[in-house]
Amino acid sequence: MIRSVVRGFGAHLPDRIMKNSDLEGVVETSDEWIVQRTGIRQRHIAGEGETTASLGEMAARQALERANMTPADIDLIICATSTPDNTFPATAVNIQNRLGMHHGAAFDLQAVCSGFIFAVTTADSYIKSGLAKRVLVIGAETFSRILDWNDRTTCVLFGDGAGAIVLEAAEGEGTTADRGVLTAHLRSDGAHRDKLYVDGGPSTTGTVGHLRMQGREVFKHAVGMITDVIEAAYAATGIGSEDIDWFVPHQANRRIIDASARKLGIDDSKVVVTVDHHGNTSAASIPLALAEAASDGRIKQGDLVLLEAMGGGFTWGSVLLRW
Ligand code: ACO
Repeated sequence: MIRSVVRGFGAHLPDRIMKNSDLEGVVETSDEWIVQRTGIRQRHIAGEGETTASLGEMAARQALERANMTPADIDLIICATSTPDNTFPATAVNIQNRLGMHHGAAFDLQAVCSGFIFAVTTADSYIKSGLAKRVLVIGAETFSRILDWNDRTTCVLFGDGAGAIVLEAAEGEGTTADRGVLTAHLRSDGAHRDKLYVDGGPSTTGTVGHLRMQGREVFKHAVGMITDVIEAAYAATGIGSEDIDWFVPHQANRRIIDASARKLGIDDSKVVVTVDHHGNTSAASIPLALAEAASDGRIKQGDLVLLEAMGGGFTWGSVLLRW
């Protein structure tokens, strides 16, 4: 059986750090409120000249280097983003060009905060069907550019950054002992579209728009949706919370992460948390967290890693993989 195995990982964050105390001068808020409600202490904000493609390129270069590959080895790039450099062409194509790659294919995938889960699942399908052998999967965002910096209910939550992995086709036994993606589960329900959206777009206002969110409504649905797709992963594989080595959730809010882990019976010591220093970087949050935990030696080859995300749409999904 063909499996999609992680060969390399990378991350890139803008140099500029915005602490909660810096936000106190922007909107009526406090470090105490932000930490208590979200767990966020600081976030990185893209500077002049930095774009989603430039952040994605840096993360991609690192992932390729760790995989011991060059762009010549890659046959597909998928970039998960909701903050593309331009309406078109795709940010993935910009990254492809920045990497000096002129073969294969590149496209963007938009599923907001679930984007990386959707992109890994898509890459896995290309690999399993034989359409691709080595896929660069990137999550890259500059949410700071679509925030309403007068709206304290949203502008304190998000940050910028990019993460990437290289997935390669490898022969497996078809058991859960295989390395690679073991199962993936995607969901969406557009009935929730007005709870988290951007109030502009090419076909409606002709503008980019700003992020709008009914935070309490998002919170209300998050834990149930997250546990739904994780239970689907467990049912498909026979794996349970006790078998998981690392839980790497989308980093939206510390309270959502803690409540999900508690409901699933996943021990705190197995949860990778970066929301405190990255904020919510949407599609970039999971690959950034993976890169942090893999580079500091927590995630090791052979570990069972559970990924999940929920975001605008709503979209939600899980990926269970052996590193
Ligand atoms: N600083 C100070 N006070 C604030 C701030 C702020 N930054 N933001 C809101 N408040 C105030 C509100 O105005 C309100 O005041 P009021 O009682 O006088 O009206 C009070 O704090 C409580 O507001 P709530 O919205 O009820 O606060 P809550 O405890 O629900 O926390 C939060 C808000 C953090 C947004 C929470 O609802 C949440 O995390 N929701 C999920 C959001 C999320 O995860 N979004 C990302 C999804 S992923 C994606 O796709 C992008």
